[in-house]
Amino acid sequence: MKFNSVRGTKDICPPEIELWQYLEKTAVELLQDYGFSEIRTPIFEESGLFNRSIGEDTDIVEKEMYTFADKKGRSLTLRPEGTAGVVRAAIENNLLAQGNLTKLYYLGPMFRYERPQAGRYRQFYQIGAESIGSSSYWRDVEIILWCVEFFSRIGLSGIKVYINSVGCPECRPGYREVLQKFLQENTTQLCADCQRRMVRNPLRVLDCKVETCRQVVSRMPAIQNYLCQSCRDNFQDIQQALQKENITFTVDKFLVRGLDYYTQVVFEIKSENLGAQDAVAAGGRYDKLVKELGGPDMPAVGFALGMERVSEVLKKQRAGALMETWVDIYFALLGKQAQQESFNFIRDLRQSGLKVEACLEDKSLKNQMRQADQGKAKLTVIIGEEEIRKGIAMVRDMQTKEQKEIKLNDLVSFLKELKLK
Ligand code: HAM
Repeated sequence: MKFNSVRGTKDICPPEIELWQYLEKTAVELLQDYGFSEIRTPIFEESGLFNRSIGEDTDIVEKEMYTFADKKGRSLTLRPEGTAGVVRAAIENNLLAQGNLTKLYYLGPMFRYERPQAGRYRQFYQIGAESIGSSSYWRDVEIILWCVEFFSRIGLSGIKVYINSVGCPECRPGYREVLQKFLQENTTQLCADCQRRMVRNPLRVLDCKVETCRQVVSRMPAIQNYLCQSCRDNFQDIQQALQKENITFTVDKFLVRGLDYYTQVVFEIKSENLGAQDAVAAGGRYDKLVKELGGPDMPAVGFALGMERVSEVLKKQRAGALMETWVDIYFALLGKQAQQESFNFIRDLRQSGLKVEACLEDKSLKNQMRQADQGKAKLTVIIGEEEIRKGIAMVRDMQTKEQKEIKLNDLVSFLKELKLK
């Protein structure tokens, strides 16, 4: 009996996992530099949480959620995104205090029943962060800046920032009316879902993936002409701040994002080196969600990036360079006595933080040297019967191919002093 991974899921094996660990480590360090603390929330939540936050008429809630009844008949859903769970947890654990800012980050798998294709999975990993408690537009800028800085730190080039404002409860109803009128005039070109959405939530038509709907969208009136003064000012302020910080961006008047909770500024960061699924990170402000989920009336802004997509581009751009050295030192051992003598050295070196591997399986020297090469060892220590008799080890630099004889008694201190880390 042979099993395969489920459609839309993916194993992350070595050496790609080295890249993932590097990305996670770099992201976490940078998030901490920006004052975010980690939060881990459950992978499943009550379905109502997502219906309420993401919105009943969105693609995610209508078509993409992994929803199931547990043994007591409660409706549960595998989280399709992180924001709703983080806000629920922040409220439930009293992390939010009026007047204070709470900055949380998270990483882990999300689940959406989407049509799998390059860069689009049914289980995918996000790293995300939420700043809850501030309406300052500098917090939006801070989030966008974090993303830009992260992509620059990992050496990801060819990325572009797109921004838009989706307005607020003051100005959105006016736009909604204009949009509804326009869509009614074009009903025949809309898919069945959008004909329904047109009445209940016309903004959702903007992120429909059906081609005929996309054509209608390209002729739609843009929301910017209907923003209230305060949203207009906010959008201006953010653009000026981004310019001041030298962050290049493009205003995309059709960017509305596929989740209902956004207010005012939303953004997406796209890579030139991916196919159709080119958004590597996205987010925006969501000033009404905390209250909507039973918490205090607190504004918030956040983002999430997609690990599979970031790793995909980086693999293309920097491939081998990021698949870190697997081991610092490889011990090629010939004979029982060499194994016995060395086991203690290996233990000592590992305790000092070095990555050490050894062949403890009675293989030929040729085979062991091949293993050292494959493991990208910096040094190989060779100990055979001859070396044991002389009380020495051969230490070979795998790059220069130079070899040195070192006394067994001095071996550990010699290797530690090389500062291979
Ligand atoms: P999102 O745009 O749905 O936003 O997802 C964020 C990122 O996750 C996308 O830009 C993409 O890189 C990745 N992603 C989404 N779906 C998939 C998929 N099926 N396969 C692979 N990668 C995917 C959110 O999830 C919001 N919670 C972001 C946010 C946080 N807004 C405010 N705070």
